Amino acid sequence: MRLIMIGFGNLGRAFGRSLLEKKEFLLTNYGLTPSVVAAVDEYGAAVDEGGLDVKKLLKTAEKANTVADYPARGKKGRSALEVIEEVEADLVFELTPTNIKNGEPGLTHIKKAMMAGRHVITSNKGPLVVAFRELDRLAKQKGVEFRYSGSVGGAVPVIGLAKKMLAGNMVHAIRGVLNGTTNYILTRMSKEGAPFDVVLREAQELGIAEKDPTLDIEGTDTACKITILANAVLGISAKLKDVKVVGIRRIRPEAIRLAQEAGYAVKLIGVAKRDSLEVGPKLVPVGHPLAVGGTLNAVTFETDLAREVTITGFGAGPRETSSALLGDLIDIHTALGD
Ligand SMILES: NC(=O)c1ccc[n+]([C@@H]2O[C@H](COP(=O)([O-])OP(=O)(O)OC[C@H]3O[C@@H](n4cnc5c(N)ncnc54)[C@H](OP(=O)(O)O)[C@@H]3O)[C@@H](O)[C@H]2O)c1
Repeated sequence: MRLIMIGFGNLGRAFGRSLLEKKEFLLTNYGLTPSVVAAVDEYGAAVDEGGLDVKKLLKTAEKANTVADYPARGKKGRSALEVIEEVEADLVFELTPTNIKNGEPGLTHIKKAMMAGRHVITSNKGPLVVAFRELDRLAKQKGVEFRYSGSVGGAVPVIGLAKKMLAGNMVHAIRGVLNGTTNYILTRMSKEGAPFDVVLREAQELGIAEKDPTLDIEGTDTACKITILANAVLGISAKLKDVKVVGIRRIRPEAIRLAQEAGYAVKLIGVAKRDSLEVGPKLVPVGHPLAVGGTLNAVTFETDLAREVTITGFGAGPRETSSALLGDLIDIHTALGD
């Protein structure tokens, strides 16, 4: 299968490393031989329709910080849109930064790829929160496969579990700890009784929180994931603005201590139901499957047949999330009967 990588940053590179690591495994178990025919970043592209050398591509990206310096086949200024239009390929990975205002540049990349008849895998929340239905419809219209497992839960197969293994259930509600940064902050605050600002600063020093942590701590990142789950699992045409959001900035250590004394943990919980979407700090009984610590994610599906099913694991990290990308790739390969 010929792949185009749009965005070759932390996740694109981790995925490249996974392709190398899993080469024999993919061939032996699935008869799958992925070939990266193009990689694009903001500076330019590397293109070889016969297949780029992924080891060389990784070395170039790490050394020069752009794939455009790939020996002989790299070119500065060659854009993602040109590559999607001009390079023969089966599938496009859209792995550019998330932009929740208008979904760009990912939204246009995905649309262009689908219009050109290419299957699409993305981990980019931006296009999904802005135009989920539009993209879902376009994929069906063009007869292409569209997967986005890495956009919610990182390595945790939240969407796959709901859409496949729980497919015979009516899902009434989805509740989840969907943001590792805020969960880390709340866990540290509860263990040490430390104030929010102090823990946030330490989380930033450790690289767990971004320099600008606004999207995480205000609950917006969780709201994005709830929007995606509402669309993908509950079948609602929801947009980000439909989610009622409260973040964790105002939580005091005393409130966490009082909750602890009563047997509860304070967690930032996203809830998706057919009639309401919300994100906010909630009390979760200690020992409940959603009361996970550190940077872990956890999601509970409330269903008719299976009752409650909870899944937990690593919600971010490039290597972990490459598991979701690889799972989507194998899923598409299997769906196509290749
Ligand atoms: N990293 C994770 O653990 C993780 C987990 C789940 C989801 N995600 C999502 O996955 C996506 C990628 O994450 P990441 O960590 O790999 O981000 P990243 O390290 O910032 O990499 C983004 C890549 O996109 C490229 N890019 C930016 N604008 C572009 C454009 N107009 N055309 C072509 N390429 C462009 C960047 O190129 P330059 O370097 O040249 O600017 C870079 O190669 C994001 O949407 C993120 O939210 C990431």
